[in-house]
Amino acid sequence: MEADWIDHHSKKSLSRLLPRLDDIFDSRPDTGVAHRRQAFEERLHRHWKPLFRLLVNLYGWHYDFYYHLEQILISTARAWLERPEVLKELDVRREENPDWFLSQEVVGGVLYVDLFSDNLARLSDHIPYFEQLGLTYLHLMPLFAMPHGDNDGGYAVSDYRAVSPDIGTMDQLTELAQVLRRAGISLVLDFVFNHTSNEHVWARRAQAGDPDYQEYYFLFPDREMPDRYERTLRDIFPSLRRGCFTWHEGCRKWVWTTFNSFQWDLNYSNPDVFRAMAEEMLFLANHGVEVLRLDAVAFIWKQLGTSCENRPEAHMVIRAFNLIARIAAPALLFKSEAIVHPDEVIKYVDRHECQLSYNPLLMALLWEAVATREVKLLARAMQSRSRLPDGCSWANYLRCHDDIGWTFDDLDAAQVGIDPVGHRRFLNDFYTGRFPGSFARGFPFQFDPDSGDQRVCGTLASLAGLEKAVEENDPQQIETAVRRINMLRSIILSIGGIPLIYLGEEWGELNDYTFLSDPAKASDARWIQRSKKKWQSREKLNDPSTLEWRFFDEMFRLIKLRKSLPAFYNGGMEVVDTDNPHLFGYIRQTADQHLLIVNNFSESPQTMSARALRACGCGRSSTNLVTATVLDTESALQLGSYGFVWLECSAPADAGGRR
Ligand code: GLC
Ligand code: GLC
Repeated sequence: MEADWIDHHSKKSLSRLLPRLDDIFDSRPDTGVAHRRQAFEERLHRHWKPLFRLLVNLYGWHYDFYYHLEQILISTARAWLERPEVLKELDVRREENPDWFLSQEVVGGVLYVDLFSDNLARLSDHIPYFEQLGLTYLHLMPLFAMPHGDNDGGYAVSDYRAVSPDIGTMDQLTELAQVLRRAGISLVLDFVFNHTSNEHVWARRAQAGDPDYQEYYFLFPDREMPDRYERTLRDIFPSLRRGCFTWHEGCRKWVWTTFNSFQWDLNYSNPDVFRAMAEEMLFLANHGVEVLRLDAVAFIWKQLGTSCENRPEAHMVIRAFNLIARIAAPALLFKSEAIVHPDEVIKYVDRHECQLSYNPLLMALLWEAVATREVKLLARAMQSRSRLPDGCSWANYLRCHDDIGWTFDDLDAAQVGIDPVGHRRFLNDFYTGRFPGSFARGFPFQFDPDSGDQRVCGTLASLAGLEKAVEENDPQQIETAVRRINMLRSIILSIGGIPLIYLGEEWGELNDYTFLSDPAKASDARWIQRSKKKWQSREKLNDPSTLEWRFFDEMFRLIKLRKSLPAFYNGGMEVVDTDNPHLFGYIRQTADQHLLIVNNFSESPQTMSARALRACGCGRSSTNLVTATVLDTESALQLGSYGFVWLECSAPADAGGRR
């Protein structure tokens, strides 16, 4: 669309539409309304043009586009009017400091409410624990109304405005958001916007034959279109079900269901869906959610003849949502969940799209390096693929509620002499214990007989060797596993981005195999790492003779240290040549602080040469901040089995302008 055309017509449409807001603002007789309208219009003027451009691109061809434009504007204005004062104060604070989440003091935790504290009411009892850990960001896994039995761990949402009754109520959630905020913790929830459950009221209306609601989804009377689409689609859960469509006997139609058959994909080419979901998004924001995790972003736009993943329009939809948030809930941030090829992951990350993104590449390659004991692929990929646009951050994690997929780039692998296909097979074998000598106790997930693709599940501790070591009651192996896990943590906490702790991880929780006897869960191995929290483990966190204490204590100290280091403010990270295939090293620096982090991925001791240290800017001596010991860095650096250092380097005599 021509820039001049957009400029002219966005202004024209806004001047025509603004009077339509009179009714909305006049319906509120309270005194502050004039002021609120002014604040709204000020933001609207700032963001209208780009929003208008996106909406024209996405929906301009609809004969009733102008009606939809008006509806979207009205919904946005209503949400702003309903936004509580305390959140408007938060908006102001966030607008003054939009990069707040880049601070090294931000540390995230992730948990399922029902598995952690049974319900929302009891979750606030654990705030002191979150504070002790240093959490400032708390992602509660899906907790909205969902079908009974299998509901994909809550990722099948039946109502975005009602908490699942066994977890609590909307009022409790709102209250919790406030209590958390007072404790300096931002509430993060999922925005499961690619699909609803088949029990959502929109789906029910579609099932009852309402044509307007049938247009909320993708329904087809016969196999013609599904077959044509499926030629270029992949199966996400191939061992559960082949194909991406489900026959619905009630409406006698095929329904697009990318994930499970009870998760109905929403049709974003319908502007009603866009508006309806924008309303749900603002509803969540107005209940105190500060970050929305945008679930399954890659899948939201379909185009015949393509993979229907990562379409340009998917980005437009998210950008348009983002602008609506800037207008009516400016404190809200988005985190992208795109578990796809790294070239695609990065495209969702932008100040104007998702300010945060999972870092699945780092996650997968850390596990890759743990299996091979070599860091060449990790180092290569991080060197070229870590940089993000300004004002954006990675969310770094070792484990989460999902599987591990080996989503590295084949060319990156080839360039370091790795055959990508054979290597993925090796990694799957290694983590499911089939590879001789493997220490890992993972579980295979979604084997695809056509592509040979497979993914892996398991907890951090079980994948890293603790389960096997404990079972074999082998103190040496236990020690190695503990060191391996702590080394991985060192990276997540220092490499740049928000570290996410999947709670349970902090005390070394092992796999839970009980899901195998629950019919609603047995076919989904991800439940192996979604278990009811055992509080006896937490009691052990105060007892230095326990393993749990060792994990917790190390983590606790590293988090504290991370928060105190300005060089860990989000931003540049430079991978360095450690001159040793087992050592992964990188520099984090600001004007006043120069840190060199080195991590040993091998169980045998390793050295980094004096020459390599010098090339990294280390002078005569450096301080390992983790142990508070001064090291002579004119000679080689010695690292024990899975050892790591966070070195504060004093300036080398000849460093000159380097810093
Ligand atoms: C996301 C979630 C995953 C879920 C899927 C479908 O990938 O992380 O658990 O199965 O979306 O909603
Ligand atoms: C979704 C699923 C995850 C899977 C991914 C593949 O995110 O939740 O399990 O690995 O899709 O794209």
